[in-house]
Amino acid sequence: MKIGSEAHKQLFCRTFLDHHRPYVPEQLGWPALDDEALTLLRSLPFWTHALQAEEDAGPMITACAALEPDLMVRQALELQAFEEARHARIIKHMIELYGLHADEVQVEIPADVLQAFIDFGFEECLDSFGAFGLFKLAREHLSIPAALFDIFDQVMQEEATHIVFFLNWFAYHQATRGLVPRAFRHPKALRSYVRALRKLAGLASGDTPDGKDFIINGADAFVDHLVPGVVLAACLEENTRRLAGFDRRLLVPQLAPRLARLALGVLNLRPRRGPRRRA
Ligand SMILES: [Fe+2]
Ligand SMILES: [Fe+2]
Repeated sequence: MKIGSEAHKQLFCRTFLDHHRPYVPEQLGWPALDDEALTLLRSLPFWTHALQAEEDAGPMITACAALEPDLMVRQALELQAFEEARHARIIKHMIELYGLHADEVQVEIPADVLQAFIDFGFEECLDSFGAFGLFKLAREHLSIPAALFDIFDQVMQEEATHIVFFLNWFAYHQATRGLVPRAFRHPKALRSYVRALRKLAGLASGDTPDGKDFIINGADAFVDHLVPGVVLAACLEENTRRLAGFDRRLLVPQLAPRLARLALGVLNLRPRRGPRRRA
């Protein structure tokens, strides 16, 4: 399929629109949690960050959709904005229901919404790769009711549809403007990719870099005695599973899985070390 063609546009927009599932966040099957589960959720450090990211995304993508001349592409962008706003409602409801800590968040729409959406999209590709694996590990290791994981399973699958939509939208957007539809030609994408490489290099070496690194801090918060290879393998496995159902003519994220495979190869060459301990 020719990237940037009418057929490509129809396929990536139709795929995204067809994946949508209607539900109301507050009416989902939120389970009652025991003290152990509540203490664990309250100890996780990322609720403000998660809420801010989802609250920012909806209005930014709505503004981006308003600039889009093509009706079908505009509808798809509007749907993503709706789903991001629904994610914010899910997190907000969860924070209130379980008494989690999150600071007040304020939403500002960036001046260049198109550029902001491109930055957001590449970040989503990388963060989702990490989140897919962490979610699997959390489900296996944490004593939290399955009903809560079921709610976030739907969110994870929506993020999978977002990243596939975004990559194809980006390539289409570049191609229809006569630009090279290669993600790595984009300076922001390149920067995101370098960041991903450093993240994965940190995991492979067992060093935890400074800063709020979602994969590493998140994994540390979730799972005791974590070994980097286990996280990478979980990310790869889940990434493959969650993207398996998409039409093979669509572009899917390649960089994070390739880097993860490289990092796993490096890990397998190193002498085995004991499990990492939490500080
Ligand atoms: Fe989201
Ligand atoms: Fe998303």
